[in-house]
This record gives sequence, structure tokens and C-alpha cells, in this order.
Amino acid sequence: MIPKILVLPGSNRSGSFNASLAAAASVELAQQGADVTRISLIDYPLPIVDEDLKTRSGIPDNAMKLGRLIAAHDGVFLSCPEYNSSIPPLLKNMIDWVSLIASDGDRPFKPWKGRYVALGSASNGKFSGIRGLYHVRSVLMNVGTQVISEQCSVGGAADAFDEDGRLKDERTRAMLSTACKSLLTHCSMMNSR
Ligand SMILES: Cc1cc2nc3c(=O)[nH]c(=O)nc-3n(C[C@H](O)[C@H](O)[C@H](O)COP(=O)(O)O)c2cc1C
Repeated sequence: MIPKILVLPGSNRSGSFNASLAAAASVELAQQGADVTRISLIDYPLPIVDEDLKTRSGIPDNAMKLGRLIAAHDGVFLSCPEYNSSIPPLLKNMIDWVSLIASDGDRPFKPWKGRYVALGSASNGKFSGIRGLYHVRSVLMNVGTQVISEQCSVGGAADAFDEDGRLKDERTRAMLSTACKSLLTHCSMMNSR
């Protein structure tokens, strides 16, 4: 079965480096045989997580839509900016809202549970956003995903992509390819069980 992968940048900034990395990952995953859906969180605006709001109005529609999308895929590739060495609020808020979903209609529903996730980061700084990924990894594991070890961090991101959106540096390209391959291998193993 062809693995279905959702690709999602954790930034809505115009000209986002992580959106560029998500685009490069989408191409790589498709070349490796995945069925890829790439989305932007700009299309799924969410209020700040608020348990009183949840009690009053339930899970927001966009969180439910994201939950269903996540659950409809075998794996997720997340490219995450690093904010003050950690997870950016846009991404944390989305992860938190989706983690609060417990049911869809009558059936129990936990969208994150059992999903395989591969991580990427991009930053113009020399640390390439890698410090933030420790936090992203920890949060995602605590909501029930399986985060694979291989990841791809892109430093000097303002100059890292060519005009076709390809990563210029061979070593970084190999890192992305390895992370995508591992994600697809894990998803295929899960599908064959
Ligand atoms: C509040 C804030 C904190 C940041 N902290 C870091 C940081 O710790 N490390 C880093 O490499 N870049 C940091 N940056 C810079 C981001 O890496 C940069 O804005 C990057 O372009 C964000 O990713 P994007 O291009 O995908 O939007 C920070 C930016 C903001 C707004």
C-alpha cells in the first residue's frame, strides 16, 4: 500500500524557510513513492487553547478538520521553526487542540495516536533550529505519535534553497532523503502488520 504522508510547516510567515523545507520534503517524499498532501496552517486558524472555550463550544472546527486530516494519513512530516530554542506557539497550539479531541461523533477518536512523524527545521541561524526539535519531539511523543530518529535541520536557510526549491547542500539533501525514507519505511511496516 502506498504510504499517505501529510506535510505541514509550523510557520505561516510569508517567505517561511520552513514552508520551503516542507515543499522540498514533499517533492522528496513523492519521488520516494508517497502519496503526499501538503497543507498550511494559514488555512486552519485556531484560537489559543482554552479549556473554558472547549467546554462552552467544543473543539473548534479547524482543529477537528486537522485531526481528521492527520488521522487519514499514515505519517506526518513537520518542519518547525525554533523560537527561543523551543517550539513555536503556532505549532504548539495546533498540537494541543488536536490532542484535546477525544471523539468524532459517537466513536472514540485520538488523531495523533500511532501516527509516525518525521521532523525538519530551518533557520537562518547557525544552529539550524535543531534545539527546538528536542522540544517538538518530546511534545509529540507525549501525545501518542512515534517520532522517528532521523531528522533534517537546515542552517543558513536564507541561502539554502535554489530557485527550483531544492536544497543546495548535498549533505543536507541527503539528510532530508534519509528522514523521508525512514518515515516511509516505518509507515509501510505499520501498513503491513
Ligand atoms: C520569538 C522568536 C524567537 C526566535 N528564536 C530563535 C531561536 O531560538 N533560534 C533560531 O535559530 N531562530 C530563532 N528565531 C528566528 C527564526 O528562526 C526565524 O524567524 C525563522 O525565519 C522562522 O522560521 P520561518 O522562516 O519558517 O518562519 C526566532 C524568531 C522569533 C519570532
